[in-house]
Amino acid sequence: MGYKAKFRIWRGEGGEGRLEDFTVEVNEGEVVLDVIHRLQATQTPDLAVRWNCKAGKCGSCSMEINGRPRLGCMTRMSTFEESETITVTPLRTFPVIKDLVTDVSFNYQKAREVPSFTPPADVKPGEYRMQQVDVERSQEFRKCIECFMCQNVCHVIRDHEENKPNFSGPRYFIRIAELDMHPYDVAERKEPAQEEHGLGYCNITKCCTEVCPEHIKITDNAIIPMKERVVDRKYDPLVWLGSKIFKR
Ligand code: SF4
Ligand code: F3S
Ligand code: FES
Repeated sequence: MGYKAKFRIWRGEGGEGRLEDFTVEVNEGEVVLDVIHRLQATQTPDLAVRWNCKAGKCGSCSMEINGRPRLGCMTRMSTFEESETITVTPLRTFPVIKDLVTDVSFNYQKAREVPSFTPPADVKPGEYRMQQVDVERSQEFRKCIECFMCQNVCHVIRDHEENKPNFSGPRYFIRIAELDMHPYDVAERKEPAQEEHGLGYCNITKCCTEVCPEHIKITDNAIIPMKERVVDRKYDPLVWLGSKIFKR
């Protein structure tokens, strides 16, 4: 059965904006993105929202619904009370372009700062041999749909613009961890993770893991093991000896 829902949506651009109230029809089986599209069709043709697949796979429709980061296309209206006012705002950690659309280029910049897969020079493509266990370990991280909701909730940058230059964020910690776990990747990942990508800023609050729509265990399976390997390297007697000899 259809009903009329109350929506409060953030509208604005150029650093200014406000919440606007709407009453809009909802039909059985709909998701928040359907309702936003109905608003565009019937009341606010200029309401900006980013979306693409409507199937939880492109990561475009990230927004904050009642203060929590969610995919608009995967948030069923049936999870709310019919009498509830649903508040929809843009991701807070990134600058707003217009209405619900944010500028997520910070994330692409951070992606470019992670050197790509670096195999040994003497192993040719086609010669790589991996254990199934190594394939499966990194498979989890490759499920990332780049919705950037983990980046959005991480307190290190959510309220601290000043940390952005020195912190790549959980999405890129899983990328670095994936490469570091790869048996054929020979690039040095541990020191850069700590020194350039800001792994040390993470104090394991696990907010990133909580919001990941792909249920990637960002903290337990990527960040904590990566932190352990960084520490192991630091206290490895051979590395220590090497650094002393090198300094002479
Ligand atoms: Fe989104 Fe999860 Fe990827 Fe983060 S790790 S960008 S929350 S899919
Ligand atoms: Fe941020 Fe996740 Fe660490 S939310 S503090 S990167 S555990
Ligand atoms: Fe693609 Fe929502 S539109 S994830």
